[in-house]
Amino acid sequence: MDARRPLDSALRVFDTTLRDGEQSPGGSMSLEGKLEAARQLDHLGVDVIEAGFPAASPGDAAATEAVAGIVERAEVAALARCVPSDIEAAARAIRHARRPVLHVFVATSDIHLKYKLRRSRTEVLDSVAETVAYAASFGMRIEFSAEDATRSDLDFLACVCNVAVRSGATTVNLPDTVGYSLPDEYAAMFRYVRERVTDGDDVTLSAHCHDDLGLATANTLAAIEGGARQVEVTINGLGERAGNAPLEEVVMAIKTRAGAFGTIETSINTRELVRTSEMIARLTGLAVQANKAIVGTNAFAHEAGIHQDGVIKERSTYEIMVPEDVGWESSRFVLGKHSGRHGLSHRLAQLGITAEGPVMDAMYAAFIEIADRDKHVTDETLRSIAADVLGQVSAPSRDAVVVR
Ligand code: KIV
Ligand code: ZN
Repeated sequence: MDARRPLDSALRVFDTTLRDGEQSPGGSMSLEGKLEAARQLDHLGVDVIEAGFPAASPGDAAATEAVAGIVERAEVAALARCVPSDIEAAARAIRHARRPVLHVFVATSDIHLKYKLRRSRTEVLDSVAETVAYAASFGMRIEFSAEDATRSDLDFLACVCNVAVRSGATTVNLPDTVGYSLPDEYAAMFRYVRERVTDGDDVTLSAHCHDDLGLATANTLAAIEGGARQVEVTINGLGERAGNAPLEEVVMAIKTRAGAFGTIETSINTRELVRTSEMIARLTGLAVQANKAIVGTNAFAHEAGIHQDGVIKERSTYEIMVPEDVGWESSRFVLGKHSGRHGLSHRLAQLGITAEGPVMDAMYAAFIEIADRDKHVTDETLRSIAADVLGQVSAPSRDAVVVR
């Protein structure tokens, strides 16, 4: 019989924008920027803020310490390799955090053992036992990560996780470090490890996915199905190489498709998502692509006439989320060559311009000529089209145009 405690419905959100996210090439932040971001992440409602990797540089140590000092609600994590000097640097940096988390990691795949660590499996197991126990001696909560878990031998992986738990880890993270896994495989790996990590009923499994094959969000969601109750994510999907799973996508998938996730819930205030995304883009200098899910400027913009017509009639025809729920002011209609007469007259009406009959025909002809040439037709252009058409049409028809 399965004696483990049932899985929680609370899904912990571990934000690593300030650590893995900052490892995005060209995405480093100033200390002041990290503090501004940390305050906003706390306000957003994340459960853990990973503030940095203190052993990496004195600047990273100072920023981690500064973040630890100002975060009021969330736990603050610092990363360390399973190396005593790293653990000491991380523990020092978060000693003033209200709720510190020491996050230690070692690679477990044979590729990493052979070429990077040049250690045997036994040596890795011994080092995990020793260093996780040392980390636990600082009296902080311990998360253990098995780097490159998805390319590790499953028996060895489960064995390492058990040793980490016996030595004091209460969260075990199974990263898809190189973004190699497929959703079914990733879920199966969580089930496998969950069945075998027997020493700690209170262990939380965590998912950490990279987006090399564009599967980071799908894999993170699959891990929840496999028993993960913490997800490691970044704002705008920042992170090494192709990035990490974007917080906004994972959180909104769970909220929008609640029925598919049982009782799972996060504590994220989704109305803060766009504000947070814009802030991180400004602080890192890494712009968000227009068609990025949830937080891209096109995420709730409609250009095609058929879509505009549908949304005007009933928004759920082409919108599965409410833009205000993620922090946008509203949906946006973009006028371009795909917009059609209906979209044009709707926008004209919003601008206070009512056009009918031959006037509308003339306006539409002028509009489509510009739309074919320029990508988008702005409100200013629409007003000048209206003024031009007004000047051209005969007196009776002019009555059909009202410019307020
Ligand atoms: O991708 C990864 O494996 C990591 C670990 C250090 C958690 O970022
Ligand atoms: Zn990572």
